[in-house]
Amino acid sequence: MKNHYYSFNSIYDPSSLIRRGLEMKQKKVISEIGKNKTIGLVFLNPSLRTRMSTHEAANRLSLHVITFNGQDAWSWEMEEGAIMNVNKTEHIKDAARVISSYVDIIGIRCFAGLKDIEEDRNDTVIKKFMSYSSVPVINLESAALHPCQSLADMITMREIYGEKKLKVALTWAPHPKALPQAVAQSFSQWAIGMGHDVVIAHPEGYDLDTSFTTGAKITHDQEEAIRGVDIVYAKSWTSEIDYGKATTAYNNWTLNDQKMELSDGGRFMHCLPIRRNVVATDEVLDSYQSLIYTQAENRLYAAQAIIEKILKSEQ
Ligand code: CP
Repeated sequence: MKNHYYSFNSIYDPSSLIRRGLEMKQKKVISEIGKNKTIGLVFLNPSLRTRMSTHEAANRLSLHVITFNGQDAWSWEMEEGAIMNVNKTEHIKDAARVISSYVDIIGIRCFAGLKDIEEDRNDTVIKKFMSYSSVPVINLESAALHPCQSLADMITMREIYGEKKLKVALTWAPHPKALPQAVAQSFSQWAIGMGHDVVIAHPEGYDLDTSFTTGAKITHDQEEAIRGVDIVYAKSWTSEIDYGKATTAYNNWTLNDQKMELSDGGRFMHCLPIRRNVVATDEVLDSYQSLIYTQAENRLYAAQAIIEKILKSEQ
């Protein structure tokens, strides 16, 4: 098994990785650990934070960076043994093996297709890519998980609250498009894994994969979930029943000041990008309670901690 960063379960000691991320921030760590090494960043989907923070994190560790954009990629065949006489140009095994021969670490973003829930929950693309790669792979958001975001979220919570075990509400929010479940599932997995008390609120039919939510309380009452918590984490995700289809049926789930007042002086979190005044109101996003920019900034230190950890274990 190569030294991939795929999920919470890839990390033996997540608490010390969080601590190291925070130390990266406080000490403004610059190092030569990655000198003469290269990271390849493969983006099959758009990105602002992941792309810039991972690139800068690699620079601070002295790595060279190659970025490869999805619109430049040949279409990838996923099936082993496929007769490739239709519309797919390159097999994922060939792409992964070739990219591995150019770089020392690969980061890949490959979003959920939002057509086939089983395929997305199986995380087919990144799992195949990892299996064919001969170098460590970092999950920059796959169909099922976004562990770089979650590590930044945990660093943010540690920065604000120290080692305290927190009451956390992860709440579904409205959005004009159907979105993947990756951020919510990954946050849930990390928050439960770190021992926080997690409640997940969503409309009926919006269940997440229970592999990542076991240990959380599930409710369909958003206000009940928010009452008395330290953290309100908002995210939209697709319905499990009408998979990949958007709805306006629950537009009253927008996070606003009145809902935040139910929390225990709680802080508001979201991974960004965010649809303002749809997911949450401007008043919430621009308030003292909002941690959205701290989370985004901490993506840099999360990426630095992950890359450093991989480089150390490859030494
Ligand atoms: N939160 C996050 O992953 O942002 P980007 O999609 O812009 O990278």
